[in-house]
Amino acid sequence: MIKINDNFKNQDILSIDQFSQKSLAKLFSVTKRMAKIGRNARPSFLLKGNIATLLFYEPSTRTFSSFSAAMKQLGGETLEITDPQNTSSYVKGESFEDTIKVLEAYCDIIVIRHPEEGSAKKAAEIAKFVPVINAGDGAGDHPTQALLDLYTIYEKFGRVNNLIGVIAGDALYGRGFRSLLKGLSIYKDNTVYLLTPKQLRLRREDFTELKNRGLKLIEIHDSKDIPKNAHFWYWTRIQKERFKNKSDYEKIKNSNFIVDKKLMREKAGKNMILMHVLPRVGEILPEVDEDTRAVYLRSQIRNGMYVRMALLALILGKAK
Ligand code: NCD
Repeated sequence: MIKINDNFKNQDILSIDQFSQKSLAKLFSVTKRMAKIGRNARPSFLLKGNIATLLFYEPSTRTFSSFSAAMKQLGGETLEITDPQNTSSYVKGESFEDTIKVLEAYCDIIVIRHPEEGSAKKAAEIAKFVPVINAGDGAGDHPTQALLDLYTIYEKFGRVNNLIGVIAGDALYGRGFRSLLKGLSIYKDNTVYLLTPKQLRLRREDFTELKNRGLKLIEIHDSKDIPKNAHFWYWTRIQKERFKNKSDYEKIKNSNFIVDKKLMREKAGKNMILMHVLPRVGEILPEVDEDTRAVYLRSQIRNGMYVRMALLALILGKAK
């Protein structure tokens, strides 16, 4: 896995493990500039003449739209292919290899989401002329989600070290869940409470790997064990589509941990933030949305676009 230290130009972004504190500091400083552009009414032409292909084999609302908006905010264009299983030559039997080789001829960068773990890496190996960004590969990685989550934490606390977090939901199949954990392990002195159903706890090899990197992990299975001093909570849904056996999903879907006003009153500190990877399917009740600590439909969303603007500009060599 190629590390990004100072040089983002033409790099594939396949995993959050490619990042270091240094590259994240750089990305965050460009993200701050992008937030100004995003809020400014005047158009930017930073990526004028650039085309990004968004190739999405899985459904998406935020990742897709924020990449699309990020290109357009900077004067770039997009080639958008959603549901290629039904709309592209895939239907006629075209191989993944050929699809990638053809698409790279039309654009400057490919952003891919795919149900299979490792597929973004495969696309990057096939694409010889343009970089590839992983927008989620099955239960694998979701690096840009982790980047926006880390940025949201950084924006709030001015640091990403020495923090206490609670991450809840699906640690087994949730790529956002695990990518954020890996991201937090890049920094020192972080503690994360993992609130999951027992059947969806973190894979043991991930658990050991993260511990070895210095991340303190505490597994809990009941919301009564949530600590009161957490800086952030991060909720995720149970990944129904990743279950081989649907009855296994039915058995645990109700063990999800629901955030309501009562839980916020009992366990959430005054200065914490409540995040969600989204989509939510009942894990946070709408009654919590008005709470100013709830950032999932506020800064977390906007930051998703700003971070992707920064990443695109850096990879396409238009920002330093
Ligand atoms: C997530 C995903 O697709 O991995 N959504 C997202 O990108 N924000 C999480 C999910 O689907 O639960």
